Amino acid sequence: MKGLILSGGKGTRLYPLTYTLAKQLVPVANKPVLIRVIELIRDAGVDEIGIIIAPNTGDEIRAAVGDGSRWGVRIEYILQSSPDGLAHAVKIAQPFIGDDRFVMFLGDNVIQGGIKTLIADFANHDWNCQIVLKEVEDPKSFGVAKLHGDGSIEQLIEKPQNPPSNLALIGIYMFDQHVFEAVNSIQPSRRGEYEITDAIQWLVDRGYMVQPHIHQGWWIDTGKASDMLEANSSVLDEITPTIAPDAVIENSQVDRRVTLQAGAQIINSIVRGPSIIGEGTIIRDSYIGPHTSIYHHVHVDRCEIDRCIVLEHSELRNLPARLHDSLIGRYAKVLRREVRPLTLTMNLGDHSSVEII
Ligand code: G1P
Repeated sequence: MKGLILSGGKGTRLYPLTYTLAKQLVPVANKPVLIRVIELIRDAGVDEIGIIIAPNTGDEIRAAVGDGSRWGVRIEYILQSSPDGLAHAVKIAQPFIGDDRFVMFLGDNVIQGGIKTLIADFANHDWNCQIVLKEVEDPKSFGVAKLHGDGSIEQLIEKPQNPPSNLALIGIYMFDQHVFEAVNSIQPSRRGEYEITDAIQWLVDRGYMVQPHIHQGWWIDTGKASDMLEANSSVLDEITPTIAPDAVIENSQVDRRVTLQAGAQIINSIVRGPSIIGEGTIIRDSYIGPHTSIYHHVHVDRCEIDRCIVLEHSELRNLPARLHDSLIGRYAKVLRREVRPLTLTMNLGDHSSVEII
């Protein structure tokens, strides 16, 4: 069995962060989502993985993941030169996949509980395809499945105006080689993409065995900032906290559910978990609340922060109110002006948003 991870796309809903950072590399609980996906696939026993990259972010993805040896997998990169859809990505992966069965995973999806059981189920049956469904509130934004009374698939529709159910296809698919016939037979959709949903419908129509699995845990497609924060909270709820041996805790309260990475320093502060403080980050005279991930080499001084993601090398100082539900990029500075004139001074990238009290 092989793995195929889709890691292209522009990430427009995560602007301004994704002007300079591939969306799959945004960290959730201080680990890029793409690395979480690689580890999930590896933990299910699959160590040959192809990553579909796009021209805009491909080099950055390659630089971050390399040959995969750090995670005990072998990675091959496959360039998709234009964003022609998930089924098109499968099409161009055929030389890498060959006749193997494979699992395809969207590189910006985060799922509870891993995929070991799913992969084992697929390996132990002669199904041609397995899809994963999840009840969602807004099925219109997804591929949607209509099931027969016996639970088998009747129809799959990509982003329907009138969804026949609230069962969305989530970004994990398992296939055998018949999918290549399907992706080579379908036509582009109204949005001009080769839809994986149409390819799977093609398999269903021709009597191939497509097995649905309904996922009960959480699943988050990290398209926008609020999804990122939600995924961050969910992952933090589940990680086993550890304190690095060289982390410093001085005159501070750090509760049991906090992870401190190498060289993190907590000084005159309160840190409540679940939260994670990255390598070399210094928290001084501050309060860090639950569901907060502060990445490496960040300085936090005289601030209150909760339910936030702060990326590396940023600086937060002396804020007059608690920073909440926020996503702060790399090398960002958020400071309270301490000398007159007491103005707001901003130097924001395109599509930034600031809410002040
Ligand atoms: C894609 C699929 C859709 C699926 C979704 C899951 O949508 O086309 O069927 O429900 O991923 O995240 P996209 O993210 O390309 O709009």
